[in-house]
Amino acid sequence: MNDQELMERARKASENSYSPYSGFQVGAAVLTKDGEVITGCNTENVSYGLTVCAERAVLSKAVSMGKKRGDFLKIAIAGKPHDKEWQFCSPCGACRQVIYEFSCEGEEILVIYLDTKKSIKSVPIDILLPDGFRF
Ligand code: THU
Repeated sequence: MNDQELMERARKASENSYSPYSGFQVGAAVLTKDGEVITGCNTENVSYGLTVCAERAVLSKAVSMGKKRGDFLKIAIAGKPHDKEWQFCSPCGACRQVIYEFSCEGEEILVIYLDTKKSIKSVPIDILLPDGFRF
C-alpha cells in the first residue's frame, strides 16, 4: 500500500465523520506492519472539548482491535470542510503526542498529509513532534 492509496482510504473514512459543529470532516487511515489498514474519523460533541480527532479515533480503534505500540508503519490524514475541497490538514498537537506514543525509537510512524499545494507529504512523527514526551 503506497502513500497515495493510504490517503485515499483516509479520504473515504472522512465520509463517516460526525462533525456538525465545525463542518470539517477528517479521516485517518493507519497501515500496520502486517499490511492491515484501519480507518477512523473525527467525532464531535456539543461540549466542544470532548471532540475526538480522527487520528486519536483510529489509534484507539486499532488498540481495541489488538494492535500494539510498534505495530504501525504509517498514518494518513485527510480533511476538508463539508462540500468543499481537500485542504492542508496536519495533526494537531495532542494527536502528535498520541501518534508518538505508538512509535518505537528508530521506527517512527510516518505521517502522511496534504501540504498547502495539495501534494502529499510524508513526515516522521519525531520531526512533527521534536523531543516528544516519553518516560
Ligand atoms: N480534527 C481532526 O480530526 N484532526 C486534526 O488533526 C485536526 C482537527 C478535527 C477536530 C474537529 O472535529 C475538526 O477537525 C475541526 O477542528
